[in-house]
Amino acid sequence: MARMAHYAPTEGGETVFTVSATSMKFGAGCLAELGGDATALGMSRVALFTDKHVREIPPARTAFESLERAGLDVAIYDEVKVEPTDRSFMAAADFAREGGFDGYVSLGGGSVIDTAKAANLYATYPDEMLVYVNAPIGLAKPVPEPLRPHIACPTTSGTGSETTSVTVFDLVKEQVKTGISSKHLRPTFALIDSDTTRTLPAGVVASTGFDVLTHAIESYTAKPYTARSRPEAPGLRPFYQGANPYSDIGSLEAIRLGGRYLARAVKDADDCEAREHLIFAATLAGTAFGNAGVHIPHSMSYSVAGLNHTFTANGYERDNHMIPHGISVVVNAPAAFRFTAEVAPERHLEAAEALGADVTEDDLAAIYKDAMRYW
Ligand SMILES: [Fe+2]
Repeated sequence: MARMAHYAPTEGGETVFTVSATSMKFGAGCLAELGGDATALGMSRVALFTDKHVREIPPARTAFESLERAGLDVAIYDEVKVEPTDRSFMAAADFAREGGFDGYVSLGGGSVIDTAKAANLYATYPDEMLVYVNAPIGLAKPVPEPLRPHIACPTTSGTGSETTSVTVFDLVKEQVKTGISSKHLRPTFALIDSDTTRTLPAGVVASTGFDVLTHAIESYTAKPYTARSRPEAPGLRPFYQGANPYSDIGSLEAIRLGGRYLARAVKDADDCEAREHLIFAATLAGTAFGNAGVHIPHSMSYSVAGLNHTFTANGYERDNHMIPHGISVVVNAPAAFRFTAEVAPERHLEAAEALGADVTEDDLAAIYKDAMRYW
């Protein structure tokens, strides 16, 4: 009952929420079915986006062989940059434009999936980089029509990019992270194969797992959709509508799964049960925040990551110095949640309880210290 009371009508407030999500296939071994799914979407000449590390591990072979077995013409792009930039996006777009592809597959973490989204956009509807970028940094020109079909195959259990309609990058000149938002950026289909996370280094599982937890907690504690103004026309309703009864279901379950399995998944790469639950949590949280939105920890993360280029995180030694997204979000999360808890204490207590905290304590700060003991 407390949850529904959270959505009590407000004067002039929104009364409607929408649910958008990528169609997806989930389960161990489903990546081997990629070729059939690409064919079903009408692909014949496919751009396979990945990065140099993922290209060397078994999922890349599985994906490539499945596409070849289906008789598709495949070109691989492995120049994706972890934490992509405007320059790396445009280099990928050049590859996409010159290749004349009728379909895209992304295999990797959020950086790979986001790069494929951008390459698909700028190859299908070419324009200057900043034209589609969110205002006030860019011109926020709407993407005119659907893009080429895109199958996203995540190999990390974190970003949820396979389910979202945004792509994020560093605008190097301005030293800021920004992005592009459009329903047309949402991948057409996602193949979520828990086997792909078996070879992930512990540090990457930790960082991407923090991303899962913050997506879920931020979505659950976001401003309720009923507290926002009702738009003048249905088309003006934002993707990120605020917390709503649908996003709550995925958020709470993702918090529960993260609380139960994140530490196990980090400690033991052979703990298939933990890693499978974590990638499921990532998908639930991705779908939740893709509809509800996130708030302060993610906003602050852009400054953290945009201003520091000297840090090397465990598991990311191959990459240029940078703060992985999950780390840049989580460092400020406990302070941010203590701040937002003053406005909606019940929601924060429910989130802390789902994470595994003993919420019989009187002191909210102590509860969070316990709940976020991994942080
Ligand atoms: Fe995130």
